[in-house]
Amino acid sequence: MAQESNELMDKLAALCKRRGFIFQSSEIYGGIGGFWDYGPLGVELKRNLKDAWWQDVVRRRDDVVGLDCSIIMNPKVWEASGHLGGFSDPMVTCRQCKKHMRADHLQALYLESEWIKSLGEEGHLIEGDLIEFRSEELARWAHRKGKKLAPGLALVRNPSVTLSWLAERTEKEGKPVTMSIGDWLAYLATEQLAQTGLQAPCPHCGGDLTPPRQFNLMFKTFVGAMEDSSSVAYLRPETAQGIFCNYRNVLDTTRLRMPFGIAQIGKSFRNEINPRNYTFRSREFEQMEIEFFCHPSEADKWYEYWRDARYKWYVDLGLKSSKLHLRNHEKDELAHYARACADIEYEFPFGTSELEGVANRTDYDLTQHQKFSGKDMTYFDDQTKDRYIPYVIEPSGGVDRAALALLCEAYTEDQAPDENGQMQTRTLMRFHPRLAPVKVAVFPLVKKEGMPEIAEKIYRDCQAAGLSSFYDEKGAVGRRYRRQDEAGTPFCVTVDGQTLTDQTVTVRDRDSLVQDRIAADKVLAYVQDRLK
Ligand code: GAP
Repeated sequence: MAQESNELMDKLAALCKRRGFIFQSSEIYGGIGGFWDYGPLGVELKRNLKDAWWQDVVRRRDDVVGLDCSIIMNPKVWEASGHLGGFSDPMVTCRQCKKHMRADHLQALYLESEWIKSLGEEGHLIEGDLIEFRSEELARWAHRKGKKLAPGLALVRNPSVTLSWLAERTEKEGKPVTMSIGDWLAYLATEQLAQTGLQAPCPHCGGDLTPPRQFNLMFKTFVGAMEDSSSVAYLRPETAQGIFCNYRNVLDTTRLRMPFGIAQIGKSFRNEINPRNYTFRSREFEQMEIEFFCHPSEADKWYEYWRDARYKWYVDLGLKSSKLHLRNHEKDELAHYARACADIEYEFPFGTSELEGVANRTDYDLTQHQKFSGKDMTYFDDQTKDRYIPYVIEPSGGVDRAALALLCEAYTEDQAPDENGQMQTRTLMRFHPRLAPVKVAVFPLVKKEGMPEIAEKIYRDCQAAGLSSFYDEKGAVGRRYRRQDEAGTPFCVTVDGQTLTDQTVTVRDRDSLVQDRIAADKVLAYVQDRLK
């Protein structure tokens, strides 16, 4: 199962690179962990996704307006929000290979560890997580594979001491021994049992890990010519705080009354300890966030409204509801200021993980900013004469995570006939037409008899109408179709011999492969209609 998932992610990443969806940042210099670039198809996909969000949560509503705030803000913002004091993850460092890891990600890293997989083959699982093994086999592994795969592991550095601790613990030297995998690994990773107690090994090299310490995730920089403590500033780790800081400005410059929302799409930065799973956990990413302000007595109602509306939004964009889950947080999972929170999660090939969180943040943020800035954050209701600090409902999504979910969902391999009628494996990206990077591709069947001119006119008309379009006259038409299938283009229009006699063209549907024959001058209207 894990292997199939890895294979699927490998195939998807290869397609994304081959076809220009996603590239490694600064690839010609070896890349940089946690940073990604979107290529010509990827940038269209992401733009369509952001446009769909903006249309649906801002333009089609009366009660939400947009905002675009700066990335670097006065550092006091981060004191007030609590990010300077508390926005950190527990980090451990391997004393041998010097790699840093999130302490709460160790279990997931063990599942992927090469040396643990190899060592596991020396024993065998007998039940649940119980493993049975022999000391001689472990010693042999330590001398051979272990030296290469886990040079930091106590068993490899000092096999006799480590195995004697194990024998003492089990008192069964020479016979097969059974224990839980966790205990087994800890014994093999511990050299000085009496001094240190059992130790957890490094998933990369088997070495010793430091005790966890808190690591602040904010990127630091300096503003102005001086690099000293007075000029320290931070790249924002969320777009939300820019909205809270402008809440008064928006109220004062619009006719909005409670309840209302402010929406923003923009880059955020977090110095993640372990960026992983392709673009899922990056150090630079885009968020799409709404802060919806309301009377405290209506907060529960609006929380439920936004939670359900945001879940439905993803389903409508083509993420299957069987793979999309709404997970309500348990009371003990909630941040101290939150009254309720739910995650919208998607079943990625590497596991089920969060796309968006919807939280009832109470009046925490505005109260903090009122306290730290000294500015009044209360709202006065002219009708009820009620003055209060509003509660905030926050649907906070990641653009890159949603794009990754859409890529995973779209990736399909099916069997389709080639030009000679032979069934072949075809790779296609089944994007919702609203999100597809290219909406229509236009081909002349051959480069003669006036076909290119007709095809080019159709292409130019689609382009002028604002549809992302593609013209291709190179190579066999079957190969041109396959290239568009991989790009996720929902419609391919072909000008052929019949066009010359009756002015009709074929429109091929990416998913069903059905070809409709329609009038050449109706192509634009046909495609626009199918995109609705
Ligand atoms: N203002 C609330 C907030 O920022 P969050 O759960 O930390 O909440 C919201 O982040 C969303 O931002 C997440 O659901 C996720 O989609 C996205 N996100 C957070 N960290 C990310 C990262 N390192 N890489 C990519 N996306 C990330």
